[in-house]
Amino acid sequence: MKKNYKYVLAAVIIATAAGAFSYYSFFITKSNANAQNLKTDEIISLSSSQKTEDNIEVNGNPHDDIYESVIESQHSDKEVQKINISECDIIADDVTYNGKFTEPSVKVSYNGTVLSRNVDYKIEYDSTEDRGVGRYYFTVAMLGEYEGSTVKSYNVIPEQISFASVKTKVSEFQLDWLPSGNADGYEIAISKYEDMSVQEIITVDGCESSTYLKENLPQNSVYYVKIRSYAYTDTEDGEEKIYSLWSNRETVETKKIEVIDGVTYIDGILIANKTYSLPENYGSGLNDEALEAFQTMSDDASADGINLYIVSGYRSYWLQDSIYNNFCAQRGVSEADRVSARPGHSEHQTGLAMDINSTLFSFADTPEAKWLADNCWKYGFVIRYPQNKEDITGYAYEAWHIRYLGKEIAKELYESGLTLEEYLGITSQYG
Ligand code: DAL
Ligand code: ZN
Repeated sequence: MKKNYKYVLAAVIIATAAGAFSYYSFFITKSNANAQNLKTDEIISLSSSQKTEDNIEVNGNPHDDIYESVIESQHSDKEVQKINISECDIIADDVTYNGKFTEPSVKVSYNGTVLSRNVDYKIEYDSTEDRGVGRYYFTVAMLGEYEGSTVKSYNVIPEQISFASVKTKVSEFQLDWLPSGNADGYEIAISKYEDMSVQEIITVDGCESSTYLKENLPQNSVYYVKIRSYAYTDTEDGEEKIYSLWSNRETVETKKIEVIDGVTYIDGILIANKTYSLPENYGSGLNDEALEAFQTMSDDASADGINLYIVSGYRSYWLQDSIYNNFCAQRGVSEADRVSARPGHSEHQTGLAMDINSTLFSFADTPEAKWLADNCWKYGFVIRYPQNKEDITGYAYEAWHIRYLGKEIAKELYESGLTLEEYLGITSQYG
């Protein structure tokens, strides 16, 4: 920093009314252009009869009531007092780990003015090797009009991470992220408020962790979430966590359950299972979109030499009543409940479900069943009651029963292997 020394001579003359006695007081201060703080040891008080060693003349009439005068002086360098580093501010920013040594951004300033590296100060690093996430030290040595040196630290922080997926259900959400190579754990901030005030911090310790499930939430509620990683590092104060920057904020909304005219929709998906029923008068035939999707699918299947056809589509409440009661008569209620829905609970009443080719268990071993299982998701269908999911769907494996959900959700279910109940986070149990 360029300094401009001036000597300000302020003479204050106090004259008595009678003029019998006069008293002169002089103050000489050393300052620079930015100096605001005068130090007591830099203030010299002189009487009017004294001369300064720099031979400063006093201008002006000593009999004026009050006056001030500024005089430039040729002051020799040997008297310039250097500014000590303790009066300077030194700030070093953290560096995000990037696999190689990277200098932190260092700002050295004095009285609000930023000083110049290699003019006013120099920086020495103890090593310029990449040493990973941790706390490192460097020396700032002052130059020129400044003096002194000090050791400062900065952190090399883990790379910023983000959520790979945010999945929501009716009463929970699941956050997934890709594990970071230089993390020992993760912190997740969850808030009901967009500005992340009143946030809950969840610590997921361990570098292999990459998922967090938040449960028991109310349906249709909004949360804001962020994630950061941390690494343990040894410092002068013992072991500390060094944190990455927070990720961008994500919005999470638990799925909404709506009941419209006695029909339940979850996130807009019509639901009929053992928990959720339909009114007696609901439905009149197969849904147009579902039927069109089936026709496209069966055309494509034909091209592969597979013949698909509907053996049962829409079923009214009363038709289901008769089917279910037949099963009960033949097998008893508990066996009937494994394979047939009680009236009002059948997906066939929605107009969105179809049984394909055969409802015999032997259908599962046919090429048609295999083709259906491998391809129906491409047309917006899912195998609604898969193998080994009876405790979740409420029904034994039905290789023939498909449900239309639209291509997007059908693909998500196919790829995840989840049933509709698992995907939405709902039950299928009679009350
Ligand atoms: N077979 C299925 C579960 C139904 O009856 O709707
Ligand atoms: Zn069916």
